[in-house]
Amino acid sequence: MNAVQSQGTALVTGASSGIGAIYAERLAARGFDLLLVARDQDRLEAAAGKLRVEHGVQVEVLRADLTQSEDVLKLEQRLRSDSSISLLLNNAGVAADGLLANADMDQMERLIQLNVTTVTRLASAAAASFAKAGRGTIINIASVVALFPERFNAIYSASKAYVLSLTQSLNAELDGTGVRVQAVLPGVTRTEIWERSGIDASQIPAEMVMDAGEMVDAALSGLDQGELVTIPSLPDAADWDAFVAARHVLAPNLSKSKAAPRYK
Ligand SMILES: NC(=O)c1ccc[n+]([C@@H]2O[C@H](COP(=O)([O-])OP(=O)(O)OC[C@H]3O[C@@H](n4cnc5c(N)ncnc54)[C@H](OP(=O)(O)O)[C@@H]3O)[C@@H](O)[C@H]2O)c1
Repeated sequence: MNAVQSQGTALVTGASSGIGAIYAERLAARGFDLLLVARDQDRLEAAAGKLRVEHGVQVEVLRADLTQSEDVLKLEQRLRSDSSISLLLNNAGVAADGLLANADMDQMERLIQLNVTTVTRLASAAAASFAKAGRGTIINIASVVALFPERFNAIYSASKAYVLSLTQSLNAELDGTGVRVQAVLPGVTRTEIWERSGIDASQIPAEMVMDAGEMVDAALSGLDQGELVTIPSLPDAADWDAFVAARHVLAPNLSKSKAAPRYK
């Protein structure tokens, strides 16, 4: 056992596998107590037992289906009332394959509920609670497809563009409150998400696929470095800075009283 001083409690959604399970381990190693959330209670209990023994932290398991509003509401209430929670990892998500025209829209509504609505409701509750406390961290897991929607499923990509946009706005809103906000944009990462969404990941070139441990370690390094947006595989941070700068070049001309001459 290797206990370090508690950093408060990290609420991790989607902690039963993949990226969320790795974050839970890394956050425990950093001294966070944990509130682990997902649907598969057996997997959560198994992870919790291991983390308690290996890191000497408190770990609570909360079974929730985050496509169900009553389960999401319970989690929001917990975020608003439990002042020990100091970090929200908005990670639970599902992917999808196929064309928008052929989509099973009931299934896609559940994707939007999980990837968009739940992320938003939890971020709102955390923002209120953390700002009141003058501290806290909100990490939202987006995806690089937020930047390249033509390369992947339309609804999934749009859901991740939403997460990026939400994080950027929230960061501006929380300026000066002491609350940290980060969007993480993983590229292809080796987890169960591919199999779960019926995508054959074996066709993806190996040099494009990162192990989840490496992805999470890079994301936490980005958090430590104070990044708002972390793209774990991007070799040169100046490329992202140039992208952001291009947006600021547009800014003064995005809303004017007259249409541009080329439209007249
Ligand atoms: N892997 C990639 O290539 C990649 C790339 C970019 C972004 N991401 C994002 O990373 C995040 C984590 O994905 P992952 O790759 O780690 O996938 P994963 O291994 O499939 O894990 C997804 C997690 O979300 C939970 N979850 C799914 N549906 C849920 C529901 N209705 N209610 C509560 N929890 C639910 C799952 O737990 P239960 O099944 O136990 O509920 C699981 O713990 C997602 O937001 C994903 O979009 C992944």
